[in-house]
Amino acid sequence: MATALAYDFKGRVAIITGGSGGLGLAMAERLWGAGASVALWDANTAGAQALADRLGDRLMVRQVDVTSEASVQDAALATAQRFGHIDTLVNNAGILGPVANT
Ligand SMILES: NC(=O)c1ccc[n+]([C@@H]2O[C@H](COP(=O)([O-])OP(=O)(O)OC[C@H]3O[C@@H](n4cnc5c(N)ncnc54)[C@H](O)[C@@H]3O)[C@@H](O)[C@H]2O)c1
Repeated sequence: MATALAYDFKGRVAIITGGSGGLGLAMAERLWGAGASVALWDANTAGAQALADRLGDRLMVRQVDVTSEASVQDAALATAQRFGHIDTLVNNAGILGPVANT
């Protein structure tokens, strides 16, 4: 487990988009470690499911395409139903494109 955050997120609910790997997964671990309930939303949930299996009830995984309004609305409803409310959104999902050499 990563180093704990110096913040107390007990009772807070955080959504992290693109949480199946990379920066999103690292943020999920930190927020969960600080006490938050965490919803990992990702188009590809394979990586996130392994974390959910390890961390248990305070972490949920949802397959979401953030480019689809309907998919996001369904996931928001499911997250609020699961955890009661939503406090934080980490809008991380994305694709890093090629960097131009200048
Ligand atoms: N890593 C870097 O150096 C860097 C630099 C600048 C910006 N960023 C940005 O930070 C964010 C995270 O970067 P990373 O390196 O962890 O990327 P990553 O590719 O490891 O993770 C991105 C995640 O977003 C998910 N995703 C992509 N499109 C999606 C969609 N439509 N709906 C839901 N999920 C989707 C992918 O499945 C993946 O799990 C990205 O938005 C990236 O563009 C990263």
